[in-house]
This record gives sequence, C-alpha cells and structure tokens, in this order.
Amino acid sequence: MFADIPEKILKLRREGGPRVISIANQKGGVGKTTTAVNLATALAACERRVLVIDIDAQGNASTGLGVDTKARAVSSYDLLLSRLPANRAAVPTSIPGLDIVPSSIDLSGAEIELVEADRREFRLRDAFKDLSGYDYVLIDCPPALGLLTLNAFCASDAVLVPLQCEFYALEGLSHLVRTIERVKRAFNPSLEIQGLVLTMYDKRNNLSDMVAADVRDHFGDKVYQTVIPRNVRISEAPSFGKPVLLYDMQCRGSQAYIHLASEVLKREQGVAA
Ligand SMILES: Nc1ncnc2c1ncn2[C@@H]1O[C@H](COP(=O)(O)OP(=O)(O)O)[C@@H](O)[C@H]1O
Ligand SMILES: [Mg+2]
Repeated sequence: MFADIPEKILKLRREGGPRVISIANQKGGVGKTTTAVNLATALAACERRVLVIDIDAQGNASTGLGVDTKARAVSSYDLLLSRLPANRAAVPTSIPGLDIVPSSIDLSGAEIELVEADRREFRLRDAFKDLSGYDYVLIDCPPALGLLTLNAFCASDAVLVPLQCEFYALEGLSHLVRTIERVKRAFNPSLEIQGLVLTMYDKRNNLSDMVAADVRDHFGDKVYQTVIPRNVRISEAPSFGKPVLLYDMQCRGSQAYIHLASEVLKREQGVAA
C-alpha cells in the first residue's frame, strides 16, 4: 500500500514529545473532520502513534472513528473544563496505534463556560503537559474561530487548513491566516501554518481547477501537491463508523489520503518531496 514511500519515512519516529497539529477552517463542511480521521488513520498505518482530539460538539470525528456514545464518558470537555490530563481521556479505536479523546455534547456550552475560566486560552495546552506515547496529535476543530479553536491553536505547533475546491474557498481564508498570526503574536510564538490541502476536488468542474490554481498562486509550496478528490466512498464511510481507508482502501479517496500522509511526513521530517 505504501510502495512508493521510502522506508525511512515510514519508520522514522519523532523524537521528544508529540507534534500537535490543529485541523482548522472556520467554514463548516470543508473536510476538516474527514481529513482528521483519514490522515490520522494513514499516519497510524505508517507506524506513527496518533491521538485525535475531537473538540467539535458535533462529534463527527468520534463517530467516524467508531467510538460508541457509551465510550464517551470522559471527553475533550473534561480536558477543557475539568483539567483532566489528555492521557487519561484517550480511548483506543479499532485502528492499531490510533487513539481518540472523543467529543461530548457538553462542548456546545464550553465556549461560554470558558469565558470565566482562568488560563482560558491554555486549557488544552495544560491538558497536554505530560502527554506521552504519541508521535502526532491531530485536533479536529469546530467550524468557528472561538475559544475552542483558540485553545487548539495555543496547544498546537502548527495548523493544517483543508480548503474545499469551490468558489468561496478563499473567502475567509485571509481572516483565518490573520487569526493564526494574532495567536502567534499574543499566545504561541511557535505556531505556524503546516500546510493547506485542497479537498472535494471535482475534475469535471473547471471551477475546481481555477480555485486550485488561485490557492497555489497565493500560498505556493504551503499547498500540498496531493488533492483530495470528491469521492462518494469518503462520504459513505462515516456511517459505518470507519475511516475510508478501512471501508475501501482501493478507492481514490483512500489513495489520496495515503499520499497526503506521506507528504505530511516528508514535510514534517524536512525531506524534499
Ligand atoms: N473528498 C470528499 N468527497 C466526498 N465527500 C466528502 C469529501 N470530504 C468530505 N466529504 C463529506 O462532506 C461532508 C463535510 O465534510 P467534513 O469532513 O465533515 O467537514 P467539516 O469537518 O469541515 O465540517 C461530510 O458529509 C463528508 O462525508
Ligand atoms: Mg467537522
């Protein structure tokens, strides 16, 4: 399955603590959760130990990774509001090497509760203080730039931005980039944009190509070469509680996420693609 990825990329583990990457875009429906679930699965298949943190009250990443609602007794809400360390809230998924801190419906009120909390921007970062046993943490953010996403940005080394190939893709992107810059200045000097990934690309639609070209014009090498196609298998998989890689590994959507994972690993290790 990973025939074209050099062995050293597949096996080389990170040294030190985990690398924390937020998957964020304030727009809904652009492929954040799909990217979090499937990139995490592909990284786990590359023998990385991965923890997904679902901080969207919708809980789509938790459902998509097959976490039963009964297994959500502890959740990311407890990391944010009860100061529970992340290690203690992580539950295993059916994918070896991939754990998740699930979301809970309580998160829908967390933004308001956090307003009054001390260290309100750093609650998630505090929950990661003694986090061990993982190479990567991927945070699936909600579709807003409120306190939940701010917590994710303050706890992250980098932000990965999924962009849907549609007319409005660039609208709001400059706001996201400015927000990341502001968080970097005010709270987290090491925060960077890890990359942008184009999702739901439709080759029959000229607009998809125009949007892709426009995004590459603006962001150059930050944009991943891998483009995630619009693929019905990707949208079917969550209803089976499975990442598309387990649902249909041969489909174009799965193959695209495998390529994205290899590009992410190359970029993370500073190896020329
Ligand atoms: N590449 C794709 N092809 C087809 N459907 C997709 C693709 N990526 C995401 N979807 C579907 O689009 C919807 C929104 O995706 P999702 O990842 O939940 O977005 P977000 O987390 O940004 O709101 C979901 O129903 C998902 O299954
Ligand atoms: Mg989502």
